[in-house]
Amino acid sequence: APTTEAAANAMAANSSRRMPRVIIIGVRKGGTRALLEMLNLHPDIEVARSEIHFFNLDENYERGFGWYLAQMPLSLPYQLTVEKTPGYFASPKAPARIYDMNSSIRLLLIVRDPAERLISDYTQVLYNRKERRKPFQSLEQLVLRKGKLNTNYKAIQRSLYDVHLTNWLRFFSLGQIHIVDGDVLIQDPFSEVEKVERFLKLRPRILRSNFYFNQTKGFYCLNTEGREKCLDESKGRPHPAVNRSILRKLCDYFSEHNERFYKMVGRTFSWCG
Ligand code: A3P
Repeated sequence: APTTEAAANAMAANSSRRMPRVIIIGVRKGGTRALLEMLNLHPDIEVARSEIHFFNLDENYERGFGWYLAQMPLSLPYQLTVEKTPGYFASPKAPARIYDMNSSIRLLLIVRDPAERLISDYTQVLYNRKERRKPFQSLEQLVLRKGKLNTNYKAIQRSLYDVHLTNWLRFFSLGQIHIVDGDVLIQDPFSEVEKVERFLKLRPRILRSNFYFNQTKGFYCLNTEGREKCLDESKGRPHPAVNRSILRKLCDYFSEHNERFYKMVGRTFSWCG
């Protein structure tokens, strides 16, 4: 923190909106909000709080880079601006558009067991529909058609990480994309955040003591300068029970895609275990 008025004025003068040098591209329900909030603990990071949906939605993209920049937080020259929009990962247009803005940008992709992700995705839609008193279908109704997997269901398609990553690798090298294990982020957030700090070549400033397990929430919450903060109730919702045979079908369908994804990223995950 600046100690004198002159230092404070100098900081204010250098403070401006800057294009992001890091983007959390997804996946939806992977733990993108948790990751953003955790990175925001770092003094060299400023985050765009809301999702911008610039590169995935034509109506926003057409507003141009001036509009995009205006959505960014104020930052200082040494700080990295980070934005997160989980909708980018499965968007066919986002990779080329981001490359066009900055071909050396660094991307963060947080993945999670694809079946868990699908259930989380379904749960979010279910809550939203219930809140708006709209009709809703059971997961079974959406996932199965005449006893067969309905692979047109969007939430199934969003869990095909290999398919989407292929689009990104047409523009970016794997070295530019850091993959965060969303299942580990839930269990041991510090270990994953530490790896992101290293990938971004930041000074290690986030501490294990910045995280504490909150029994009521059932998740890790953040602790900074004596203030405690958990994510809001839309994160970490109870999931509906899913019938074993459906889970089996989903995992059978995902397994080939998972294997392909492991090969692409040169790393394995214990999904559908
Ligand atoms: P659930 O609500 O299904 O449990 P996103 O922010 O990308 O929408 O991801 C939401 C998911 O983040 C949550 O899914 C939850 O499992 C996960 N998550 C990871 N760390 C968390 C934390 N510390 N607090 C709350 N949710 C967390």
